[in-house]
Amino acid sequence: MQPIEIEALLKTYKNKWGRSIVALQNLNLKVNEGEVFGFLGPNGAGKSTTIKTLVGLIRATAGSVRVFGMPTTNPQCRHRFGYLPENPAFYDFLSARQYLKLVGNCFNMDATSLTTRINHVLELLDIANADCRLIRGYSKGMVQRLGLAQALLHDPDLYILDEPMSGLDPLGRALVKEIMIDLKMRGKTIFFSTHVTADVEAVCDRVAVIVAGKLQAVDDVQDILEKGIDGYMVQLTGCPPSALKEFNVVERPGDVVDVYIPKDELNKFMERVVLTNGRIRLMEPRRRNLEQFFLDIVKRGRL
Ligand SMILES: Nc1ncnc2c1ncn2[C@@H]1O[C@H](COP(=O)(O)OP(=O)(O)OP(=O)(O)O)[C@@H](O)[C@H]1O
Ligand SMILES: [Mg+2]
Repeated sequence: MQPIEIEALLKTYKNKWGRSIVALQNLNLKVNEGEVFGFLGPNGAGKSTTIKTLVGLIRATAGSVRVFGMPTTNPQCRHRFGYLPENPAFYDFLSARQYLKLVGNCFNMDATSLTTRINHVLELLDIANADCRLIRGYSKGMVQRLGLAQALLHDPDLYILDEPMSGLDPLGRALVKEIMIDLKMRGKTIFFSTHVTADVEAVCDRVAVIVAGKLQAVDDVQDILEKGIDGYMVQLTGCPPSALKEFNVVERPGDVVDVYIPKDELNKFMERVVLTNGRIRLMEPRRRNLEQFFLDIVKRGRL
């Protein structure tokens, strides 16, 4: 059973004058078990609308969403995933520990394992030292950390996270990436929205790009990165620049040369290096990164 299946999803909102706003159009998406899936899109693209429909907070105008083969209105289904909303807001008259107890009780966790899990997630998100403070006194980043803690609490198989890195400092962002990688190692599935391509590059297996309510691309992140390679910067020694005349050579002091080799000339270049007894010191791919891939899609999607 696939963790997430979205079929022909359409969502329209009504504005205060009764006019329809189309937020999602014919969205089709499947997320496989054990995958870390990035849902990338600019502001207003429809990411949170998709996620809210997925977790059952709002109703689809047409189409269907299924989580582990079940509609999300099914309480059994809701036990199978953890959800982090876009702007988490909790009962701020409670402490983090009290709030997590409430969440654990909603999931029918038994008292002993609940205490163990609460301690674990508070430590993991590095808010254990503020566990008894009222949420009212939490900073934005601390609230975000608590949001992640409550999504992890019942150790579900699927995580649906709306901008999990939002509002976090660099340490927090790195921590969330580590947590995601650890969850993946444990066979869990993660679906998260973001507009930060570097985060997708760091942790995702696949990415979907949504622009103005329409899905524009779904691809394997490694494939995008490999397809994006257009050449290599190579630094070598022991090879006279005259032997590399037809390549784009930049001479440097001493015996070192830098050469830019287009992707399709790599074999010819390597043969030349071997023939002239050159030695490669450094070789780096030059590629169109995920950010450029994303920007191209967004531009196309807006045409
Ligand atoms: N409750 C609502 N009523 C009317 N329109 C809405 C409502 N919620 C969202 N929209 C509209 O639906 C579209 C998609 O919004 P959504 O919040 O899903 O975007 P998003 O991709 O999550 O953006 P962001 O990156 O800013 O969080 C936008 O045009 C937005 O104005
Ligand atoms: Mg959003």
